[in-house]
Amino acid sequence: MVLGHHYQRDEVIQFADITGDSFKLAQAAEENTTAEFIFFCGVHFMAESADILTSSNQKVILPDLAAGCSMADMATAKQVDDCWSVLEKLGLASKTVPITYMNSSAAIKAFTGKNGGAVCTSSNATRAMKWAFDKSDKGEKILFLPDQHLGRNTAVLNLGLTLEDCVIWNPWKTNGGLTDAQILGAKVILWRGHCSVHGRFTTENVEQMRVKLPGVKILVHPECQHEVVSIADVVGSTEMIIKTIENSPIGSKWAIGTELNLVQRLAKNFPDREIHFLDKTVCYCSTMNRIDLPHLVWAMESLVNGHLVNQISVDSEIAKFAKVALERMLALP
Ligand code: 13P
Ligand code: SF4
Repeated sequence: MVLGHHYQRDEVIQFADITGDSFKLAQAAEENTTAEFIFFCGVHFMAESADILTSSNQKVILPDLAAGCSMADMATAKQVDDCWSVLEKLGLASKTVPITYMNSSAAIKAFTGKNGGAVCTSSNATRAMKWAFDKSDKGEKILFLPDQHLGRNTAVLNLGLTLEDCVIWNPWKTNGGLTDAQILGAKVILWRGHCSVHGRFTTENVEQMRVKLPGVKILVHPECQHEVVSIADVVGSTEMIIKTIENSPIGSKWAIGTELNLVQRLAKNFPDREIHFLDKTVCYCSTMNRIDLPHLVWAMESLVNGHLVNQISVDSEIAKFAKVALERMLALP
């Protein structure tokens, strides 16, 4: 089975059996119990999740091992453990539910599973945070890892919290750069991580598009900065971005703030809509782009020749607890 994330290049995505956002691809991996080999055209954390959700006789292959995610790298297991120790010291760990974005290492998903939390993706972050606050045993606070923007946008725009309810934990500073009082008073502790691609879109981009193209609708991914998401017309995961364009009227105008491969594909597939990239400059995700046709062909031909290359195999102890957090996400009400 070949799985392809929407940000993959056209030369690769054409070979995907299933294309999707990170949630749909995790579901696809879990549901397929027969494919012995799964080529994951996406980034490392997605391939790890697929390995965790498939059975032990299924093997997940990432065609280029250098296809990581800079946001996922912004939270290490040691840093997260240190943060949790501070929460324990303040008597808050028993009241705090970790909610971890899919874009994180398996070790951090395992920490989340062990401590009563769940994984989320951009398509179910609202449900995951509601679930966390509704938990009767904990549910007073959320530690949201590692994307501050998805956490803040969801808390403020979808759950009705205020910006003051959220604090930012800086893993490079003692006590996260916060006073005990700030930590005690917060409803959501946001990890100081971000996406280097989506972080580039600005409110000026939005304003300029609105002047240049009267009637244009602004459609952005929730990894964008809060100021941008707050003034956009539609916000959603990559799958939702595609559905929005599919269901839009012919002739409608859109400026889209997400990775460029996807925006270019939408412009090509929907020539009867006017589709623009929100930023003026090129904005590919360099790690997603590492999976190119030569790497995919090399990984497949190696297998045909009897060599399994670039297998992603998560340590069994980490996988056990990470699976708990992933399954909580798949079972979200
Ligand atoms: P989706 O969950 O919307 O597919 O996004 C994943 C991602 O990495 C966005 O930058
Ligand atoms: Fe990571 Fe951003 Fe690339 Fe998504 S677009 S894989 S969050 S660096």
